Amino acid sequence: MKIVTTVQEVRQQVAEWRKQGLTVGLVPTMGYLHEGHASLIDRSVSENDRTVVSDFVNPMQFGPTEDLQTYPRDIDHDAALVEAHGGDLIFHPEPSEMYHEGFSSFVDMTVLTQELCGLSRPVHFRGVCTVVTKLFNIVQPDAAYFGKKDAQQLAVIRHMVDDLNMNLRIVGCPIVREADGLAKSSRNTYLSAEERQAALVLSQSIRLGSDMVHNGTTDCAAIISAMQEHINTQPLAKIDYVKIVDAATMQPIPTLDRPALCAIAVYIGKTRLIDNFFTEDV
Ligand code: PAF
Repeated sequence: MKIVTTVQEVRQQVAEWRKQGLTVGLVPTMGYLHEGHASLIDRSVSENDRTVVSDFVNPMQFGPTEDLQTYPRDIDHDAALVEAHGGDLIFHPEPSEMYHEGFSSFVDMTVLTQELCGLSRPVHFRGVCTVVTKLFNIVQPDAAYFGKKDAQQLAVIRHMVDDLNMNLRIVGCPIVREADGLAKSSRNTYLSAEERQAALVLSQSIRLGSDMVHNGTTDCAAIISAMQEHINTQPLAKIDYVKIVDAATMQPIPTLDRPALCAIAVYIGKTRLIDNFFTEDV
């Protein structure tokens, strides 16, 4: 397993693999890898001859008041995890390697990004689309692997790939949870012991909402209000949003009459966490 920091090194390595007729999977990450990332690497390793993991905290997808400076980083830990899971190459660039002076081209999307996280993080998806496009151009993978915890991100990336005729397969992988239900996230590391316990309201409310759906409730307002009520029992929790949207358009819907995504974002203390469930497989 190799770690490289320049675009040129990635291109050289991928070109060598291509000469040998090998397929390449890409797992884009911001590092501080956990079992959620490991599941993406496992999937890529099982479906491709070689797997590249990008490990880059992308400044462009953070708003001015967000946690860019404090976002956890640990390349040694990441390297050990990638190696243990059979990844072949880590691309770990400096911001200046990705965004040279005078950088001024962006990939933006006018649909799917206006709701959910797009409302509270207005620059986020432009940053994600731009960096993911760059990573696709640099690695030119056959397939790229993303977690369903970032369900809106996955929908946005699928849409971008379709709109811009990008020649690769996008694979969405299931949410990986701690034993007590909390969705794995690099941001969980910000939580104090008390907050870690409080954070369980997210997965509990997801379970509550999904049970209501499975028991036949189709009124979205009723599901949302039961979930909100549960989250509000926890004094350390502050709801950013609890929404049910059309899984294809990301627009809120009143009734469950089509495949839908129920998504939540909740602050636990200062840490913003997300979770979700789909009403049916999409
Ligand atoms: O999901 C993430 O970790 C990031 O948004 C991604 C896709 C690696 C782009 O920076």
